[in-house]
Amino acid sequence: MPLFKKKANEPQVDFQNLPRHIAIIMDGNGRWAKKRGLPRTAGHAAGAENFRTIATYCKDIGLDYLTVYAFSTENWKRPQEEVGAIMGLLKKYLLEAIEQMERDKVKMEFFGDLSALTPELRELCEQTREISKRYDGCQVNICLNYGGRDELLRAAKAYAHDCMEGRADPNHLTDEQMGGYLFSKGVPDPDLVIRPSGELRLSNFLLWQSAYAEFYFTDVLWPDFDKNELHRAIAAFQSRSRRFGGV
Ligand code: FPP
Repeated sequence: MPLFKKKANEPQVDFQNLPRHIAIIMDGNGRWAKKRGLPRTAGHAAGAENFRTIATYCKDIGLDYLTVYAFSTENWKRPQEEVGAIMGLLKKYLLEAIEQMERDKVKMEFFGDLSALTPELRELCEQTREISKRYDGCQVNICLNYGGRDELLRAAKAYAHDCMEGRADPNHLTDEQMGGYLFSKGVPDPDLVIRPSGELRLSNFLLWQSAYAEFYFTDVLWPDFDKNELHRAIAAFQSRSRRFGGV
């Protein structure tokens, strides 16, 4: 008896050949709320709930890595109330994640400059990361105060510093070594990057890591992006031929 029953009109996913790493730009929360006459913060609450559902599902189907864009280096420009609401949702999620970690067995990481977060939120991220080190289920990476350009600038500075200290050779830097300077150190590049909500851009997300990613765009807003939408994205990915610059 298969674990996931397929209906005739559902996208056909080969669960034995899933992408190893899926990355998602969780976009469209504000528009989802506006359509319902609700405040933007209600959209983020629905988005956070959907993140729980999708992350749990990714773990259940055996995905190795899921990375989500939760808060960018540019998102601080939003009204204080909205920033506060997103931080509140993160806190709520991390508290729950810590409580349920033994059951879920997910590994959690954070990409981004956490120093700008409140000490309480930083401590929760640290605790989550530490506790989850003992688990080797799906690794969920939450991008927080993350920007692809910021990540590359930090990497360039750290590399320059290592060169000055004699720990690195300025004439020799490989792709792999560069990866070691990024927040995503040790995590394979995303195979599939999904952006819901109809926007067709990367918005400073995983600039280095997405070099050979396949992209999937849909008009569906993030709070409505359900398992069936994820299946569509994976099926589209599986129908493509990846050549990595070869033929
Ligand atoms: C983009 O939609 C969404 C964000 C900037 C915030 C994402 C945050 C969450 C889903 C909640 C917290 C996350 C976790 C991991 C618990 P938008 O606001 O730009 O939507 P719009 O383009 O329709 O205005």
